[in-house]
Amino acid sequence: MAEKDPKKSYLVTEKLVKRFDEALAVDEVNLSIKQGEIFALLGSSGCGKSTLLRMLAGFEKPTSGRILLAGQDVASLAPYERPFNMMFQSYALFPHLDIWENIAFGLKREGLPKADIKQRVGEMLDLVQLGPYAKRKPHQLSGGQQQRVALARSLAKKPKVLLLDEPLGALDKKLREQTQFELVNIIEKVGVTCVMVTHDQEEAMTMAGRIAVMSKGRVLQVGSPEEVYEHPANRFVADFIGNVNMFDGKLSVDEPDRCAVQTKIGEIHVGHGVSGALNMPVSIAVRPEKIEISTTRPADIDHNIFTGRVKEIAYFGSYNTFIVQASDGNRVKITEANTSRHDLSHITWEDEVFFWWGDRAGVVLRD
Ligand SMILES: Nc1ncnc2c1ncn2[C@@H]1O[C@H](COP(=O)(O)OP(=O)(O)OP(=O)(O)O)[C@@H](O)[C@H]1O
Ligand SMILES: [Mg+2]
Repeated sequence: MAEKDPKKSYLVTEKLVKRFDEALAVDEVNLSIKQGEIFALLGSSGCGKSTLLRMLAGFEKPTSGRILLAGQDVASLAPYERPFNMMFQSYALFPHLDIWENIAFGLKREGLPKADIKQRVGEMLDLVQLGPYAKRKPHQLSGGQQQRVALARSLAKKPKVLLLDEPLGALDKKLREQTQFELVNIIEKVGVTCVMVTHDQEEAMTMAGRIAVMSKGRVLQVGSPEEVYEHPANRFVADFIGNVNMFDGKLSVDEPDRCAVQTKIGEIHVGHGVSGALNMPVSIAVRPEKIEISTTRPADIDHNIFTGRVKEIAYFGSYNTFIVQASDGNRVKITEANTSRHDLSHITWEDEVFFWWGDRAGVVLRD
């Protein structure tokens, strides 16, 4: 594989558009993907993820815009001429061929010498740790194992870019989680640049180095899992990635390193400025795990503290979730790890509680 420059763009889309008759499936998408990175397209059903991936693969012709691989426009290349390989939403293996033959299929069609095919299939079987299963048929493997065969088949031709459309979509939740790690390990071992599509935010967060959050054909934000979670660009992203409490209000103070927003539950302070106009409408997003809760008022807290009544409690192994109805009727979600320094076991339904958070917990969103 060629020298990797981790900072340089490798796969680039410029103002990529796909229009189907009425519908604008992909709307001026600019992406810049680095060599060797696992990049996820995340969004709900119908937002244009597969269409974008299919344009990269060459199965769909862009209405306008460009796709560049290492600086070269790929528009003139047919799918089979592109150094891309796509694994489809349903990764149909050939049921009548054994695992070895499934992996060898593309290599045979390319007319590779027999000895080379043998070596390459052997390498792929080792990579996905399915050597002992080479002579089985797909239906004699588990879902996760079949998925690994499909991956081996996609990687056999040494593509420069691996395109995965909902790679784990056919697996149940438990198997998905386990397979996510296996898949990342294999992809990283090979070092192939990977663009994957998923509508599952946890899957994107677990597998990808960077995520593009999409809605209605547009990319709303690109960032690492931590960036999109901690610094969502707008309400849609904040809401789509993980759980969030949203407080709507008007900007009442705005300084370079702090601001305040007047909301229905009271004034909320945030530890960053927004360079906005006073009184402009904004929302504050606060993640449930950043909020603390107690039946007694903490002595040292004098702002971002509110009262409410406990409406729901759910206990999960390592954390508890409380739904607290604030004075304005807003239902606030609060999660606390069981290791919390406050003893929460005595909090019960209909209790009056205090809840509060630090200045750095909230993010002000303008749109
Ligand atoms: N061949 C086509 N002809 C007409 N419209 C299409 C075609 N393919 C996709 N679309 C439309 O384009 C939009 C985006 O579809 P796409 O398959 O890219 O969504 P997606 O994000 O992959 O969704 P999902 O998560 O359900 O797979 C949808 O509104 C869809 O109906
Ligand atoms: Mg799709």
